[in-house]
Amino acid sequence: MNVGKWIRRFEGNTAEEEVDWEAPLEMAEGLRVPLGESLAIFQLGETGTGSTLRRYVERVQGMDGFAGYEKALEKFVGEEHRHAAMLAKMVSRLGGTLLEKQWSNGLFRRVRKLINLEFQLQMLLTAELLAEAYYEVLRRKVEDGPIKQFCARIVKDEVGHTAFHAEFFGELQHEWSSLWRMLWRWQFRVVHRVTCAVVWWDHHPCFRALGVRREEFDQLCGRALRTYLRRMERAAVEAGEGAWEQMVAL
Ligand SMILES: [Fe+2]
Ligand SMILES: [Fe+2]
Repeated sequence: MNVGKWIRRFEGNTAEEEVDWEAPLEMAEGLRVPLGESLAIFQLGETGTGSTLRRYVERVQGMDGFAGYEKALEKFVGEEHRHAAMLAKMVSRLGGTLLEKQWSNGLFRRVRKLINLEFQLQMLLTAELLAEAYYEVLRRKVEDGPIKQFCARIVKDEVGHTAFHAEFFGELQHEWSSLWRMLWRWQFRVVHRVTCAVVWWDHHPCFRALGVRREEFDQLCGRALRTYLRRMERAAVEAGEGAWEQMVAL
């Protein structure tokens, strides 16, 4: 894994967005309230400390190709915390209230602890893919300039996050057989689909107020998933080829 590339990317992505918060908010009450509530749920989700990934780091320490991954992970968690701060500003602009607890967030955290560390990681990945689709919906539909601008920035960052995870998990899977990888992808799709439905259900007052159709949200979720799986498979194949070339060269 090209860890240095990711560290440089995260380090080069810290410039704050210049946003005109003084611009008057022109938004119908029917959208302002559900949008504020919906963003507050995502704000809570972005405040995680990356503890699951950190626990997993212990497994890759010492493995070829992952030197420095811990540092890249710190930078990644820092970027998520910046998102939490941006979301807090958006919630405040909408007159909403930040949350400390929320049912779907709590359910998500509980479900991911049900099985093993691998499943926890999988749920984390699913959340990343859904976040990409969610912020893209907002970027397209919200007309308020400052919120649109923040959502565009978060979408850009989230696309980078899913590419970062695809490279990491793809390389970790390179020793799996192609059949095993195919089975993994199949169950990942099922979990992703169920999570999409939960997110839609939880945020549907906001989506409805924005005029978003379920098919549109599903389509964006599906697109993020397919891109992720394609990148992960490519990383697995390339890591396998690299290992093979090293063996031949010995
Ligand atoms: Fe994020
Ligand atoms: Fe993310």
